[in-house]
Amino acid sequence: MKQTAILGAGVMGETLLSGLVRAGRRVDQLLVGEKRAERARELEERYGVAVVGNVEAAAKADTVAIVVKPQDMGDLLDEIGPSLRPGQLLVSLAAGITTAYIESRVPEGVAVVRVMPNTPALVDEGMAAVSPGSHCSEDHLREAEELMASVGRVLRIPERQQDAVTAISGSGPAYIFFVVESMIEAGVHLGLPRTTASELVIQTLVGSAKMLRETGTHPTVLREQVTSPGGTTASALRELEIHKVRAAFLAAMESARDRSRELAEGT
Ligand SMILES: NC(=O)c1ccc[n+]([C@@H]2O[C@H](COP(=O)([O-])OP(=O)(O)OC[C@H]3O[C@@H](n4cnc5c(N)ncnc54)[C@H](OP(=O)(O)O)[C@@H]3O)[C@@H](O)[C@H]2O)c1
Repeated sequence: MKQTAILGAGVMGETLLSGLVRAGRRVDQLLVGEKRAERARELEERYGVAVVGNVEAAAKADTVAIVVKPQDMGDLLDEIGPSLRPGQLLVSLAAGITTAYIESRVPEGVAVVRVMPNTPALVDEGMAAVSPGSHCSEDHLREAEELMASVGRVLRIPERQQDAVTAISGSGPAYIFFVVESMIEAGVHLGLPRTTASELVIQTLVGSAKMLRETGTHPTVLREQVTSPGGTTASALRELEIHKVRAAFLAAMESARDRSRELAEGT
């Protein structure tokens, strides 16, 4: 029976745990490493899962998912490193931590996969990008993909693209929330009650997202379909172009990519 351990049961760790349980993973195939007794009890009660020490979880599991903050990664690897063995799979969800960094702190032959998740995983609509380290087999990669598929979609990418992915899908939900906030504020300026503006904007976002996914039509085509010549939408889009919103998005994402690189280098 294959065991999966989750070390670091914060927001993302619990998201993964609950996704796996809902996806049908048996709780006796799951282990959680958690140091706070109160939090351990809470997770045991909520999911019926065994909560043990990090070292025990890492030693028993075939797959170890590490979901601690990047700054806690070094200490955790020092703690569990001696208990890991070749052939085990280590899946890291920590932003900016390279597979080379992890491989240098675990025994030779431990397979490492790096993942960039995003927060819509909380509602099973996550977007995760996975990259293999240097000792990873196809089976290891598939196992990591299956893990993340329990909370959304998964793409396989070369590790050198991880900073760009962080800028697009990792930070992406924040940009979308920013646009939603801006549109709601605009609705209020146009005289709509805040609750009305919120409902209009959120349903417009969900509807547009569903159109993109379900029709598979290019966004430019979808945008042109609602842009009659000389009409209201054309007038609004002209203002967005005048205010260089497209250029601002490019600059924002380049900046996120560069920051991700800096953080990975520890600056
Ligand atoms: N792309 C994204 O949007 C995104 C979103 C979420 C998460 N992530 C990634 O996911 C990771 C976790 O983020 P999060 O938001 O879930 O953070 P979080 O809520 O702070 O969770 C981290 C958890 O790890 C625990 N922890 C710290 N050191 C530990 C150790 N040595 N052993 C066991 N547990 C330990 C913490 O416990 P204490 O509270 O007791 O210290 C906490 O419960 C991060 O590396 C982040 O980069 C990315």
